[in-house]
This record gives sequence, C-alpha cells and structure tokens, in this order.
Amino acid sequence: MESLHSTDVVVIGSGVSGLMTAISLYPRKVTLISKKKLGEASSSAWAQGGIAAAIGKDDSPHIHFQDTINASSGLNEEQVVKFLTENAVDIIYYLENIGVKFDKDEANNFIFSKEAAHSRRRVVKINGDNSGKEIIKILVQKIKSLNNVTILENVTIDEIVAENEKIVGLIGRHLGDNIVDNFTFFKAPHVVLATGGLGSMYEHTTNPRDIYGEGIAMAARAGASLIDMEFVQFHPTGLDIGLDPTPLLTEAIRGDGAKFIDENDNYFMEGVHPEKDLAPRDIVSREIQKLKDMGHSTFLDCRHFNEKKMQENFPTAYNYLKKANIDFTKEKIPITPSAHYHMGGVFVNDAGRTSIEGLWACGEVSSTGAHGANRLASNSLLEAFVFGKKIAENINNSITTSVKERKFNFQQYLPKEKTSSKIRAKKYIWQLRCTMQDLVGVYRNEQKLKKALIEIDRIEREARDLSAKLKDMVLISRLITYAALQRKESRGAHFRSDYPNKSKDFLFRKKFILKDMMNFLNKKEYFEKIA
Ligand code: SIN
Repeated sequence: MESLHSTDVVVIGSGVSGLMTAISLYPRKVTLISKKKLGEASSSAWAQGGIAAAIGKDDSPHIHFQDTINASSGLNEEQVVKFLTENAVDIIYYLENIGVKFDKDEANNFIFSKEAAHSRRRVVKINGDNSGKEIIKILVQKIKSLNNVTILENVTIDEIVAENEKIVGLIGRHLGDNIVDNFTFFKAPHVVLATGGLGSMYEHTTNPRDIYGEGIAMAARAGASLIDMEFVQFHPTGLDIGLDPTPLLTEAIRGDGAKFIDENDNYFMEGVHPEKDLAPRDIVSREIQKLKDMGHSTFLDCRHFNEKKMQENFPTAYNYLKKANIDFTKEKIPITPSAHYHMGGVFVNDAGRTSIEGLWACGEVSSTGAHGANRLASNSLLEAFVFGKKIAENINNSITTSVKERKFNFQQYLPKEKTSSKIRAKKYIWQLRCTMQDLVGVYRNEQKLKKALIEIDRIEREARDLSAKLKDMVLISRLITYAALQRKESRGAHFRSDYPNKSKDFLFRKKFILKDMMNFLNKKEYFEKIA
C-alpha cells in the first residue's frame, strides 16, 4: 500500500533540533516525524550537561567563543562559532519564557557548572543532570499546543529522494505494523534532517541504541556533501559496568572535584595537561585508552563526595551508581571512553542548508563547523537551538517552488528485513560496532583502518540480505573509516599513531560525496598486504 502525504515542511527527528525547528516554523504547515513516541527517541533527552551560555558576570560571548576555538583544535568556521556564542544568552531567556526552569540559587541567580575546557563556570542546567529530559518535556508541551504541526509517531524514513540536487520527497513507513509495503511518500519542498548522531556505531556509546547515523546515510545516498566524518568524540566517563549503552557520568562531576585514578591509586591526569581532570575530552580519553591498552584499570574517584550532595546535584549519575551497587563514598567508579558525539556529518553552510536544494540539516546530523575537531562540552544543545531557529527563519523567508506530481516505484525501497534475518543482523551489527571501537576508535593508524575496511567488506558479504539498519551501519562505518584514512595527521578527536602530530597540510575540513568514497574503495588499495 502506498500513500501520499503533502506538506510545506517535513522535519525528521524529535530531539532538540527537530522540535526547535518545527516550533520556530510557526505558522508554516509542518509535519514532524518521530521514530518513537514524541520525547522518547533522541540523544537530547539523555543530555546531562546542559547548555553553555555566557550569562555570568565574569563571562562574555567572546570568552565563550575563545574557549570553543581553543578546545576544538582548529577547523572551526569562526563566523559560526561567533553566531553560536553570541546567541546563547537569548536562547536561555527564550527557554525560560516557554517554561524551562533552570537551576537557580535562593537569590534567583543561575547556578553554573563547570565542564572540561571551559575557562568559566557557564553551563546552565535543569534539575542537576536531568537537563535534556526537562528541556524535551517543555518542548513537547509547546509543540503539542501548536495547530500548524502534524506529529507522526512511530514512523521511520528510509530514503531521501532527490533529483538534480533538488529535494523531491521522502519515502517512509509506519513501524508499528508488520506490513512491509505500507510506504508513504512525503512530498514537501523543504525537508529538515534532525536525526542525531552515530554513537551506536561503536561498542561503547552513551547514545541511545538506534542512533547510528541513518540521517547521514540517507543524505549520502541522495548525493549530499558530507564533511569531517572522521571526528568522533569519545566521552571519558562512560560507566564501565557492561551495560549497552554505557551510562554517562557527566563531566560536571569532575567540575565539582572528582578525579581520575588507576588501580594503584595514581591520579593519572596529573602532569598530562595543565587542566588535569578537566583537560579537553580528546586528551583525557586518549590517556584512559592508553592505560587500558597497557592493562591498567581506570576509575573516577568520588570517595570524598557527600552522598546527599551527589544525589541532589547529579540524580541521574547517583541512580546509575545505586543500581550498579557501587558505593561511590567507598569505592572507585570504573569508567571507559564511549562514543558520545560526532563533529562531522552532513555538510551545511552557515544558513543550515545542505548541498541539496530544499534539504536542511540541524544538530548532530549536520556539520556546521561550530565544533571543529573536538566539541566543547554543552555546546551541542546550544547549536541545536540556535540553528533550529535560524533554519526555520530561512525556510519561512524563502520562496518555495512546488514539488512536481509524479509516480514512484516504491518497490525499490522495500526493506529486505525478515524476522529470521533480524537475528543474524544483530550478530553482524555487534561485530561492526566492535570493529569500529577497536580499529576506528580513540587510536587509529593506517593498518587498523585498512583492516577495518576489510572487516566491513566481510560483514557485508556474510550478512547478505542487509536489513535497512545494517545497510546504513555498513555505509556509515565505511564513511568514517575512509575519512580517517585520508587525514594523515592527528587533530582533536582524530588521533593517528602513525601521524601523531598536527600538520598544516591538513588544516582544512574534508568535504566529499559518496561517489568519491566509492571511487577510492573500488580501487581496493586497502587490500594491499597489511603486516
Ligand atoms: C556531560 O554531561 O558530560 C556531557 C555534556 C556534553 O557532552 O555536552
């Protein structure tokens, strides 16, 4: 069964970027597509950190700008960072206006927390480390009050259809039914991709399980330019208790005095970086991974923390530890670097436009250049808000040419997924995630990356009929690995042990399309003998 859904704008994704864009498009006719029930499908809802904004008396947008540039190891688009940091304070007041209750002291002053590589306490939060959950709750209330937005829940988009680098529409389906041919063609002159990042491409991740880069995969197949795909940020403090996804212990705990420690009680960040435990994430994650590779165990030490304060300030972390039976006042907390945020993605210009006319991208699926090679903590929700608003303004101001009526061959988009192959797919998905963690993770080199490409080929070959998810994951793993092979230097979150320094020859953001990668892979040079 095929059906047609026509609207002015389709927004795919219901995290902060999708919700903010859809809300700001008022009074335009918008369809918001959510893979799950609204409010349940995004990384945003899991965000503990909060929003960075230069509200404090000792702070300014310029200092916030400078910290963002310093943390990110070059490659920023400076005008984007300027725009982001200059608009941060307005976003906080906008959110207060629509009902977000930021943490404040008795005198009604914001309480700021400190996170890595910020020179000031400037992260505002809601109910301690529950920021994402509370923000999403208010945005969902807001969007439900608008009469211009049609909300479609439990719907997934399989393909973006574009012709001559112009959007034509989307192919999607309802996930609830077991009918595989219940496709809908979404016809809209504007589509906003807000599908989030790709953390679940890795064995250890702080992202929800179904965040694996599907938006990037669809955009790539439609011919959109991608950029900076090699830059995957690992969060140093995933709680290492064998859970998937890895529960996040917010960096703000270190902002309040927690320290890294090994099994011999060495505070191992001493002497590694002047900021010690609050050094930029890439540096801390590498130090932890190095120790792990040498056979050490790595922990967070909160034994000097007051239990009540921990419960008040970090209720999410507190509950994780309680559930895991870890008494943090007596025991060290096991941690491991976990894929957390992707700085690369679908290339957008400073208006949020992709290289395909009518296709926009917002938040983690996009790459604006705001985060360079290593994102400053708590700048990502900020980017989603600032760009969501901007994209909506740009769409509202643009003259829209209507999409031509046409007939589609839906059959080519039918998923290959069958119940029996789903079990097999799970096995291959896990193999892919382990490959990415081991060979395309915190430490990379040419040998590892070539091995990864060979392994991805094997998985694709053996899995045969790829499920829609596995097909996307194979593509995303190749895109990251290909980009990592090209960048023969170390910068920010991308570290190559065979090229351990920054090189001025690579002081540029690497933009490419799927065809470029396929041309490279088809030469099969990575099959050259690897020692
Ligand atoms: C954290 O709370 O440590 C994560 C914040 C972020 O990634 O921005």
